[in-house]
Amino acid sequence: MGAGAALMHSQVPHSHPWEADAHAAPHAGHGDDHAGVRGAVDHAANGFDPHAIVRDFDWGRTRRAGGRVIREWELVALDREIEVAPGVRFAAWTYNGRIPGPMLRCREGERLRITFVNGSAHPHTIHFHGLHPAEMDGVPGIGAGTIAPGGRTVYEFDALPAGLHLYHCHVRPLAEHIAKGLYGAFLVDPAEPREEADELVMVMNGFDTNFDRANELYAVNTIPFAYMDRPVAVRSGDLVRMHIVNVLEYDLINSFHLHGNLFDWYPTGTSRRASELTDTVALCQGQRGIAEVRFPTPGRFMFHAHQSEFTELGWQGFFEVT
Ligand code: CU
Ligand code: CU
Repeated sequence: MGAGAALMHSQVPHSHPWEADAHAAPHAGHGDDHAGVRGAVDHAANGFDPHAIVRDFDWGRTRRAGGRVIREWELVALDREIEVAPGVRFAAWTYNGRIPGPMLRCREGERLRITFVNGSAHPHTIHFHGLHPAEMDGVPGIGAGTIAPGGRTVYEFDALPAGLHLYHCHVRPLAEHIAKGLYGAFLVDPAEPREEADELVMVMNGFDTNFDRANELYAVNTIPFAYMDRPVAVRSGDLVRMHIVNVLEYDLINSFHLHGNLFDWYPTGTSRRASELTDTVALCQGQRGIAEVRFPTPGRFMFHAHQSEFTELGWQGFFEVT
């Protein structure tokens, strides 16, 4: 594990990896040549693919009771070894076998029921951000508290307020439970829907592959450079809505920066009014927001953390605008 991480470190050049890419013609294919990292992550073996996750919204199952919608999901904590970079295997803790966990999506005012099954060898919870009673907060010692291996509980509350939220485990040592992969985005759509858009999920994370409480890898949706290898395809003129959540552990701050354009920024997605038209936002852990943008012209436009170290260690990608 340590050797793999050290290898990754040594392979990352201190120049701009995308410049090398621009000179590489024709493009050799998925996973080749970015930032000097050889080979590709086996997404199929991991059981999830950042190219699917970026547009994957889990609406759960619904039924009606007493005139209102009950929306239900099941989240299972599972210990999984995940290839987080070519040849770098990480002993992860996951919700439903993937990192980030499913992007749970619902509508304002619905009743939500999340069955949590702990299939991991370690105690865990799910702590949701948003409005809910204390006993549904998913923290040790309150309500169902810590869920032991083999245990289960149901978190139930109303979908409030409309906005972009998140969920994560809240068992100590908290930094480790989050850094191992137990988190996901949670979106409550406003009762009056937002404008139709091409919607994306971007959970900014990282991995401490040698257990020194510092990250060796950074990414959006887990796999470093995934969207450099295969850009996120969007269409010129379309409204693109990015749901950006920062769950990065160990580093005090993360950021999102877009090239060649500016976006409307809606912090926490709780207001219909943008706070700013910008190309860079800084986020501490747990901070999130909705970014809306239209690309007027086709081309490749980069997005990345505006911390160069994070960028070089994997947190960068491209939009391919056609
Ligand atoms: Cu946990
Ligand atoms: Cu939190």
